[in-house]
Amino acid sequence: MSRTRALIAGNWKMNGLSGDAAEFEAMLSGLAARRDASGAPRADALICPPATLVFGFAERARSAQESGLPVAIGAQDCHAQAAGAHTGDLSAEMFADAGAAAVIVGHSERRAAHGEGDETVRAKASAAMRAGLAAVICLGESREEREAGRALDVILGQLAACTPDAPSGDARLETIGDALVVAYEPVWAIGTGLTPSLEDIREAHAALRRGLVSRFGEAGETIRLLYGGSVKPGNAADILSVDDVDGALVGGASLKAADFL
Ligand code: PGA
Repeated sequence: MSRTRALIAGNWKMNGLSGDAAEFEAMLSGLAARRDASGAPRADALICPPATLVFGFAERARSAQESGLPVAIGAQDCHAQAAGAHTGDLSAEMFADAGAAAVIVGHSERRAAHGEGDETVRAKASAAMRAGLAAVICLGESREEREAGRALDVILGQLAACTPDAPSGDARLETIGDALVVAYEPVWAIGTGLTPSLEDIREAHAALRRGLVSRFGEAGETIRLLYGGSVKPGNAADILSVDDVDGALVGGASLKAADFL
C-alpha cells in the first residue's frame, strides 16, 4: 500500500452471509470495468467482511489480483495476542493465515460496545503489524467533543496513544506507509447521514498529517489518511478531493456494489 494511490475501504460490519458473495463478485466485475487507459482502477479497494467470509473472499481476491485488480480483504477486529485461551476471539495471525491483508482496529463501535480504549487499540495495531497485516486505526471525536471545540485535541491524543512505533520483524512491511492506515471517523458521523464540512475534514486531516510527521518523520507523509462517516455516492467525490484525504472508510454504502463502486 502506498499513499500515491487512494484506498477505498468497505467495512461490512455484522452484515453478510455466504449468499452475499454475489455482491462481492459484482464489485470485482465493476472494478474490472473501471480500469483506466493504463489498465488499473484508480484506487485500491479493501473489503472487510465479517470474519466468516474472510477466507473465501481472500481466495477470490487473490485471483482478481492476478488479473491486475488492486483488491484486498481485511478483518474488522483482532485480538492482541497471537493465540491462547480467548474463547470466541480471533488473532491477527489467524486472519493473515486466512488470506487477509489488513485489519481495522479501534472502530468506534468496538470502543463503545466492547469498552476498547486507546491502549487496547494500540496493542491490536501492534498485533496486526506483528502478523504482517496493515493496521487501519480508527479514531474520531464525539459530538460533545466537537461542540466543545476539542475535536483536534481529541484526535491528536488518540493518534499518539493508538499508533505503535514502526513495525518490526516482518519483511512485508518495509515502510510504515505499508503497515499503517489511519481513518478519521467522527463518531457522530458514523451511520447518521451527517458529515463534517469539507473545511472541518481538511483541518482534521491536516492536523493528523502533522501528527504523523512529527511521530515518524518524512515517513509520516506516506501513511494514508482515510475519512469515514456517512460517505455515500453523492458526497464521496467532494470528500476525496480534500487535501490529505487519501481515501475513505465506507460502512453502509459498501454493502451494495453499485454504491461502493
Ligand atoms: P458509515 O460507517 O459509512 O455507515 O457511516 C462508516 C464506518 O463505520 O466505518
